Amino acid sequence: MSTQHLYGTPAPQSTNGSSELSNSSGESAPGKLHVTSHNQYKTPRLLRENLNPNPLIQFNEWLSLALNPTDNSPVVKEPEAMTLSTTTSKGIPSGRVVLLKTVDEKGFVFFTNYNSRKSGELNQNPYASLVFYWREISRSVRVIGKVEKVTREESIEYFNSRPRGSQLGAWASAQSTVVEEGDVAKKVEEKESEFKDKNVECPEHWGGWRVTPFEVEFWSGQPSRLHDRFRYTRAEGEQGEWDINRLAP
Ligand SMILES: Cc1cc2nc3c(=O)[nH]c(=O)nc-3n(C[C@H](O)[C@H](O)[C@H](O)COP(=O)(O)O)c2cc1C
Repeated sequence: MSTQHLYGTPAPQSTNGSSELSNSSGESAPGKLHVTSHNQYKTPRLLRENLNPNPLIQFNEWLSLALNPTDNSPVVKEPEAMTLSTTTSKGIPSGRVVLLKTVDEKGFVFFTNYNSRKSGELNQNPYASLVFYWREISRSVRVIGKVEKVTREESIEYFNSRPRGSQLGAWASAQSTVVEEGDVAKKVEEKESEFKDKNVECPEHWGGWRVTPFEVEFWSGQPSRLHDRFRYTRAEGEQGEWDINRLAP
């Protein structure tokens, strides 16, 4: 399969979207917030005979369409945004949004601070789940897999492609730590003068994680909540064929 790098994906265009909210609490929030809309999802049916036997190739097809829509397909805003869930060694979960930067035959790569909360949890329990939701085309993908750090060379290659401001930010922000207002801006200034007239090198504490999946599910929204779902599974670490099963919505 071909590797997709998403370095430098253009900023998404704005589109209109709506949802109906009703607040039962009157003036003095917080109160109950009801989401009363009932979106009817409708995308082309997802059928077993149209699925690629390899979920990474199937994912690549979906992502390519989301990034470069053909005639009738709507633009998807930031399709590379995904919710990454991790857990502590006690099994306490946490999720946050990160950006997918590369998909290759081994898995899904994102970049972050290796001292952050998410990295700490990945060190404790090297398994993660990713969820993509592409509202404009009523599609979602769930990935579950084992994580490992990418090579230092891969991290450096991507770091060097980032804007200088983001590179300095990676040095200045001790991600996930408690700070006072102004602390990070001050650190950025310090790093600016430290790296004045020099390339900003990739910090040792910054790099990529790769999620190598053993389960991938494709979800395609259909009317009346009768969605199409297909789950690919393969034993962890295996290289053979994937089992593919349709799941009830
Ligand atoms: C759209 C979007 C994209 C983001 N992309 C990244 C990313 O690629 N890497 C990253 O470290 N944080 C990214 N963040 C910030 C994370 O959601 C999170 O705040 C940060 O990584 C700290 O998470 P942690 O404390 O759980 O480690 C992104 C946030 C949003 C909303």
